[in-house]
Amino acid sequence: MHRRLIVPGALGAAVLMLAIPASAAGHSPGAPGIGDPYYPAYGNGGYDVSHYDLRLTYQPATDRLEGTATLLARTTQDLSRFNLDFLLDVGEVRVNGAPAAFATSGEHELEITPKTPLAKDTPVTVVVRYSGVPSSKKAYGFTSWHRTPDGGIGANEPEAAWWWFPSNDHPLDKATFDVSVQVPDGTQVISNGTLQSTSSRLGWTRWNWRSDKPQATYLATLAIGRFDLTTGTTESGIPVVNAYSKDLGAHAGAARASVERTGEVADWLAGYFGPYPYNALGGYVPNTGTGYALETQTRPFYSPRQFTNGSNVSVVVHELAHQWYGDLVSVRGWQDIWINEGFARYAQWLWSEHEGEGTARELADYTYASHPADDPFWTVRPGDPGPDDQFHLAVYDRGALAVQALREAIGDEDFFTVLKGWPAKYAHGNASVADFRRYAEEVSGKPLAALFDTWLYEPVKPAASAARSASV
Ligand code: ARG
Ligand code: ZN
Repeated sequence: MHRRLIVPGALGAAVLMLAIPASAAGHSPGAPGIGDPYYPAYGNGGYDVSHYDLRLTYQPATDRLEGTATLLARTTQDLSRFNLDFLLDVGEVRVNGAPAAFATSGEHELEITPKTPLAKDTPVTVVVRYSGVPSSKKAYGFTSWHRTPDGGIGANEPEAAWWWFPSNDHPLDKATFDVSVQVPDGTQVISNGTLQSTSSRLGWTRWNWRSDKPQATYLATLAIGRFDLTTGTTESGIPVVNAYSKDLGAHAGAARASVERTGEVADWLAGYFGPYPYNALGGYVPNTGTGYALETQTRPFYSPRQFTNGSNVSVVVHELAHQWYGDLVSVRGWQDIWINEGFARYAQWLWSEHEGEGTARELADYTYASHPADDPFWTVRPGDPGPDDQFHLAVYDRGALAVQALREAIGDEDFFTVLKGWPAKYAHGNASVADFRRYAEEVSGKPLAALFDTWLYEPVKPAASAARSASV
């Protein structure tokens, strides 16, 4: 037993421990949320996961996913029970080898009560056996699992994991991943990182993917379907694996003409942001009608809709910029989304300049002018947009205007020092908008509170001169 109980009076500790519940003995339940102000139920308290091992089987004909998740974690408090975030049907849970009781609660909570309470700061292994049809599960009325004619895809932000693996679903708890999925021969499986191997038997092929750098749960992705894979290597030596649904129709050419430039774009971005942080790279384009793309770690998800009008390298720039701004350095809380989207958009402006399609300054002026002062666009505060406006256009475009304003306030030399220094400073960790302001102030030696207020927090259109006036 790990309980250390100071027993008042003459009662023996052993007797008392049998008589009172674990919580009363100093062990308490882990919080059902990690403490995110936008999403109080996301993530959980009391432990930290270091590794997810997912060994699964998927049947495209029925969208049925089943298998075992093994989580390696460490407790951060004495725990009588703890939660995971998950939606599929759980058959069995073991904690440190012993069967554990479990129940569901809330929109996506799996409550696990180990046989023996867990002491603070000890390793814990959690095995969850599960099955289910991800496309049949909803939380808060929506699903992040996209069914396709030949399979399915898990990709969304800020929530995607609940539909395919149990997790501590918040960017504050990053972990490494092994994702091994068995599918019928002739079907392909795409995930993050490196394809370690494939093997076939009895009509099934198992695909073994490994993402061996810390990865936020929303950046883990799984796509099953009929894909063509292409392989290559960047000039800087990073292996590239891309995947395209065999069913992209008229979009196939434009998709390849864009995503095949992944290596070139990553090398170009490294010039601004520092060395590419991972040892695997690529992108995948499934046959889905989904509207967004997503910076899933090492291997972004692109929707065919991005390629409706021909090639779109700009979206590749955006998702790859997130590999530094979002994936390597992740938000501390979801209110910090500007650090992701403002910089990924700004990278697209730099790419436009590189391609001779308009400079960053020109695009900033154009964006500023295209929203009149009474446009509700200006009421969104990119530095704290609220959960309903987390991906509002203003987070991207006003967010990039804020980056341009910072550049003009501190000058190009300090600006590009900040751009490259930030990913290194918080590599594989988390940081907030306030951390970013402090870092830019440290590099430039200039107070920047007024500039950040003007561009990220005031719900009004900043005066045209705001960038320059804030710097004096
Ligand atoms: N981070 C993604 C991107 O800009 C946006 C994802 C938006 N998610 C959504 N469900 N709309 O690349
Ligand atoms: Zn983005």
